[in-house]
Amino acid sequence: MDPAALLPVPDAIPVPWGWFHALLLLTFLVHILLMNTMVGSAFIALVSSCRRGSTATPCSEFVSRILPFLIAFTVNFGVAPLLFVQVLYGHLLSTSSILMAVYWLAVIGLLISAYTLAYLFQNPANTLGLGGVVVLLLIVSLFAAIAFVFVNNIGMMQNISSWSRYFAQPKGLLLNLEDPMQLPRYLHFLTSSVAVGGLAIAGYFHWQRKRGDWGGMDWIRIGCRWFSFSTMVNVLIGLWFLFTLPQGILSPATLDGRLLAATLAGGLVLSLPAIRAGLSGRVVPAIWWILATVILMVVARDLLRRALLAPWFNPSQLRVEPSFAPLVLFLVILVLGMGLIGWMALFTLRGRTKNGTQS
Ligand code: HEM
Repeated sequence: MDPAALLPVPDAIPVPWGWFHALLLLTFLVHILLMNTMVGSAFIALVSSCRRGSTATPCSEFVSRILPFLIAFTVNFGVAPLLFVQVLYGHLLSTSSILMAVYWLAVIGLLISAYTLAYLFQNPANTLGLGGVVVLLLIVSLFAAIAFVFVNNIGMMQNISSWSRYFAQPKGLLLNLEDPMQLPRYLHFLTSSVAVGGLAIAGYFHWQRKRGDWGGMDWIRIGCRWFSFSTMVNVLIGLWFLFTLPQGILSPATLDGRLLAATLAGGLVLSLPAIRAGLSGRVVPAIWWILATVILMVVARDLLRRALLAPWFNPSQLRVEPSFAPLVLFLVILVLGMGLIGWMALFTLRGRTKNGTQS
């Protein structure tokens, strides 16, 4: 069967696609940074707690306080790219979501379970003991499962020729496991989470030290080491990912091929000073370098999607039925909402700082 016959007809969009594309990249960048911090810091707290047989470490205490916030922000900043990806690629994402409906719908339950456990882990009296380690293990496993579903869905959405498997397996249980890009892509996301999580921990204790609290000073060095070593591993996983790309994707004959090759090479080059800064414990430069790297990686991921979908679809083909008012309203509400979230975060942070000084 010709898989092109399976492609649903996309809806018209109200403004040129570039608007949604820019917003998708921007909001996905925030989502992925928050997701990395959430998954990575929980994983590092888990390893440190396992080593010490208790969750009473400065790192675990920090993670237990911050985790419910990180989950809430990751989810909220996941909704935004979900809206934009639906606008641009909705006919493809809806199809892949149906093909793997059982896993996709399970994400809601997995997420609620992780959120509930994060509150259980946030135990100020620290009475959970070894149970805290088990709770943390469950949280990290749930995060890994959710990420697995996301990577499968996005992978399958871009792997249209695999959709005809539905006729042999129509129960909503399809995954994208036969795709050679799948495993390195998943590991790439998980390893970058450990790196960003390590840097977030180092950043927090660096900030604490600047405020005169030297309690978790060791964690600046430990967090930086997690960051640098996992980034080194991720460079290797990235190379593995590169070798699984379909032939011709990086072809210098096409503009997208040249751009993809340039962004991937740029990301690799920028990760080197980031690793170096991490190894020498320079938290702030490491943050800037890795931020630049992640920005390039987000662009590369988008170029790869465009290249993989090129035989089937390009968002520039979407029909435009002009209507700017909803976009303007959306942008106004977005700016107001961001301002409100920023104010809430500052308010919470100030409250915590005050309580910390009083206790
Ligand atoms: C809290 C647990 C979550 C984790 C661990 C997680 C992880 C991930 C990962 C690894 C990807 C990249 C997939 C890929 O490119 O192959 C991703 C993409 C994405 N996530 Fe999340 N996510 C989480 C929650 C959410 C939620 C709740 C939403 C929406 C409400 C969401 C929306 C998205 C969207 C829309 C993308 C794809 C954007 C695009 O392809 O441009 N995420 N997520």
